[in-house]
Amino acid sequence: MASQQKGGRSHKSASERTRQTGESEAESSADDSELQDFFVDELKDIYWAEKHLVKSLPKLVKASTSEELRNAFQEHLAITQEHVSRLEEVFSLMDEKAVAKKCDAMVGLVEEANSIISDTDAGTMTRDVGLIIAAQKVEHYEIATYGSLRTLARVLGNEEVASILQTTLDEEEEADKTLSGIAESYVNEQASRE
Ligand SMILES: [Fe+2]
Ligand SMILES: [Fe+2]
Repeated sequence: MASQQKGGRSHKSASERTRQTGESEAESSADDSELQDFFVDELKDIYWAEKHLVKSLPKLVKASTSEELRNAFQEHLAITQEHVSRLEEVFSLMDEKAVAKKCDAMVGLVEEANSIISDTDAGTMTRDVGLIIAAQKVEHYEIATYGSLRTLARVLGNEEVASILQTTLDEEEEADKTLSGIAESYVNEQASRE
């Protein structure tokens, strides 16, 4: 998917670059390119999603059976709060207001995690298997989003924003690996004996 976006470099990216380095204009978005508007809209979507995760992760922390998974969720909650602040930094760099726009995909992914909690017994490794799968679906959604937005930021000529988004992308990938590691090291195996 990223390769589709590579062809997008045009004269527009040069003009965007000029605009972004110029004086801040409160109403500058009116004459921004369509791609720039789309990019900002996607930022609002992931901003809402990250804030929704900050509210939802404590429930996963409480529901976890194994201590390692509980700690991983707790740690990712702190990291997710940083993702929210980083997006606020991106909005400010782009002279845009940090506005959250409801992300239906994240609503669905969190609902799925909640239904796993109600469909499994507390204190079982089967519940942890389910929570890991649900959390990995969330991470993959974030990875797809940040990967695409990082690439778009480059197309728009904004390397500073691209590098901030890359930092978050690296952390989402790290979280995904941690979850796989927990599942593969003992959770799946212990659940198979329940
Ligand atoms: Fe995140
Ligand atoms: Fe995440």
